[in-house]
Amino acid sequence: MTPTSQTPRTIAWIGDADRGFLRLLDQTLLPMKVKYRDCRTSKHVWEAIRNLRVRGAPAIGIAAAYGMVLACQRWKVAVDRDTFLAVFKKHGNELRTSRPTAVNLFWALDRMEARALQHSEYPLYPSKEFAAFMLDEAREIETEDRDMCRAIGRVGAELIQPGQGVLTHCNAGGLATADYGTALAVLFTASEQGKNIRVFADETRPLLQGARLTAWELQQRGIDVTLICDSMAAQVMKEGRVQMVIVGADRIAANGDTANKIGTYGVALLARAHGIPFYVAAPSSTFDLSLPDGAAIPIEQRDPREVTHGFGRQTAPDGIHVYNPAFDVTPAELIAGLITEKGLIRPVSGETIRAVLQ
Ligand code: MRU
Repeated sequence: MTPTSQTPRTIAWIGDADRGFLRLLDQTLLPMKVKYRDCRTSKHVWEAIRNLRVRGAPAIGIAAAYGMVLACQRWKVAVDRDTFLAVFKKHGNELRTSRPTAVNLFWALDRMEARALQHSEYPLYPSKEFAAFMLDEAREIETEDRDMCRAIGRVGAELIQPGQGVLTHCNAGGLATADYGTALAVLFTASEQGKNIRVFADETRPLLQGARLTAWELQQRGIDVTLICDSMAAQVMKEGRVQMVIVGADRIAANGDTANKIGTYGVALLARAHGIPFYVAAPSSTFDLSLPDGAAIPIEQRDPREVTHGFGRQTAPDGIHVYNPAFDVTPAELIAGLITEKGLIRPVSGETIRAVLQ
C-alpha cells in the first residue's frame, strides 16, 4: 500500500437485505494482516464486537445496526408481527451485552428498534420488504457517521497550527468509524490542508490500539507519526514536543465528563500539568445526555489475560491478581473543548453542550 492510500474499509454490507451479510476488517490481525471476516448472523456480530474485531464507538454501533438486519434473515417459519418483533428485540438485547461502555452501540440499536416499529403491518414476518426497510436504516446510520466524521475533521482542523506536535491515545481513526475517524479526522484534514503536523501515538496498553492501528493509519496517509510507550508521554510533553492532545470518546455525559480508552485520564492530567490543551473529538451519537456526569458511565472490565499475555507470551507470574478496566473517565474540567460535527463546544459545560447539540 502506498503512503497516500486510504484506510481499508472497516465495515461493508455485501449483497441484498434478504441474503446479504456484513463484512468486517478483522482489526485484531492488524497491522500484520489485512483480512476480512464475514458475519452472517447477529451472534457473529456479537462475537466480532466482543473480541474487538470491530472496535471504536461509532464502528461498534454501525456493526450492531447491520447485526439487526441479519436478525431478519434465516427464519424457518413465518410468524405474526408481535412474535416477530419480540424475537427481533431479543437479538437486539443480546447485541447490547457485547460491550457496555460505548453508548453508540445502544444508540444504534435503539434507532433500529424504533424504526422496526414504524414499518407498516404485513400479514406475516419476516418479509423481504421488512429486511430491506431495516437495511435502509443501518445504511443511513453508516452514511451519517461518514458525514459526521468529515464535519468533525473540518471543525477540529481550525484548531491546529502548522508545525504543531499532537499527541493521541488509542485509535479514533477510520478503523473506529465508518470512515475517516474523529480525533484522526482532525489530523487528516489538517494534513490535507497542508499543515505539516507531527503526531505522537501512545501505544495504548494492554491491547495496543495506538501501536497497531493509529500508527498504521497515520503511516498509510503519509503523516509524520512517532510511536511512544504510554509511560513516555510525560517526558515527551516536558521536552516541548507536543502542543495539543486530541482523543476520541466512547461516551460523553451531560456535563462533558468523557469515557475513553484506559489511560486517557492520565494523559489529560499530564496535559494540564504541562499547560497543553486537551481536546476530545466525537459525533453527537457519542453523547449520553441521560447521564448527569461520568460517575454513572459503565466501565468495561476485560480478561486478565490481556494484561498477563499481551505480547503473545506470558509476561507476569502465574496466579497474579490483575485489574483490567478498558476505559476511564476524564472530568470535563480537564477538557479544553469537544469537537463535534455541529461545532466546537468550548468551554465544556452542561449549558454549552446543550446549546450546540440541541
Ligand atoms: O476498546 P476500543 O478499541 O473499542 O476503544 C476505542 C476507544 O477508546 C476510542 O478512542 C473511541 O471508541 C473513539 S473511536 C472514534
